[in-house]
Amino acid sequence: MDARSIGVFDSGLGGISVLRDIVELMPCENYIYFGDSAHAPYGTKTREAILERSEQCTNFLLAKDVKAIVIACNTASALALDTIEKEIDLPIIGVVKPGAQMAVETTQNKRVGVIATESTIQSGLYQQLITEADPAITVYGKPCPLFVPLVENGRVHRGDVVIETVVKEYLTPLKAAGVDTLILGCTHYPLLEEVIGDFMGPDVTLIDSGAEAANLASTQFDPNEGTGTTQYFVSDDPQGFDQLAELFLQEKVDVGAELVDISRY
Ligand code: DGL
Repeated sequence: MDARSIGVFDSGLGGISVLRDIVELMPCENYIYFGDSAHAPYGTKTREAILERSEQCTNFLLAKDVKAIVIACNTASALALDTIEKEIDLPIIGVVKPGAQMAVETTQNKRVGVIATESTIQSGLYQQLITEADPAITVYGKPCPLFVPLVENGRVHRGDVVIETVVKEYLTPLKAAGVDTLILGCTHYPLLEEVIGDFMGPDVTLIDSGAEAANLASTQFDPNEGTGTTQYFVSDDPQGFDQLAELFLQEKVDVGAELVDISRY
C-alpha cells in the first residue's frame, strides 16, 4: 500500500468534476488538486505556453511527493501529456485517450463528433487517436470557445436562451453530419450534458472524457485503506474557488484552497 497522494491538475476549476469522479471510485486515496487559476483558460493558448504551464503544475505536484498524476484538463492532456510523460518517472493519466477509446467502442455508424477548446481541436489528438484505432471512423471536430465562459457564468440550464442558441450554432454541423457519438472534450462541457443531449437527440451518445479517465485511474492502483483526504491549491483567487467549485460539484463546498506562487516551480 502506498499512502502518497494522487496529484490532479487542471487550468482552473473544471478538473474538480474529474477529481470528484475519481474520489467516488477510490475514496480511500489521498489527493492533491492544483488549479492553475492565474493562467486559465488554457484552451486559447499556444502549445508552448500550455506545455510550460503544465510543466509548472507537474513540478508543484512532484514537490508534494505524489505517486501519480492525473491531468484533468483536455487541453493540457492534448498538448503536454506526451512530453511530460517522457520527463517524469511516475504514472500519468490524461483525459483524451480514455475519451477517444470509449468513442471508438461506442460508435455504430462510425461517425464521431468531438467538441473541445480551440487548442484541443487544433492539436488533432482526438482525431488521430480515434482514426488510428479504427480507420473506418470519420471524426468531426468542432471548437466551442464560448462554452467555457458561459458555463463559468452559470448558463448551463435547459430553457436558458443564451446557451441554447450557442449550442444550436456550434452543434448544427455535427448533427447534420449524422454523428452517433459525441465526445465532450473539455472539463466544462459535462455541465451542458442536458442542453447538448436535448439538441443532439436520444440517438447520440455523449462521452464524458473526465469520467472515462476516472474509470481508467481506478484500475491503476491497489486500493488504500482508511479515509482519504483532499487538499486544494490554486495559483490565484482562493476565495473564488469555492464559488466555482459549487457550480461544478452542484453542492455547497468550503474547501479552503491554499494560494501557491506557481512561478517558483
Ligand atoms: N480545462 C480546459 C479543458 O478541459 C477548459 C478550460 C480552459 O480552456 O482552460 O480543455
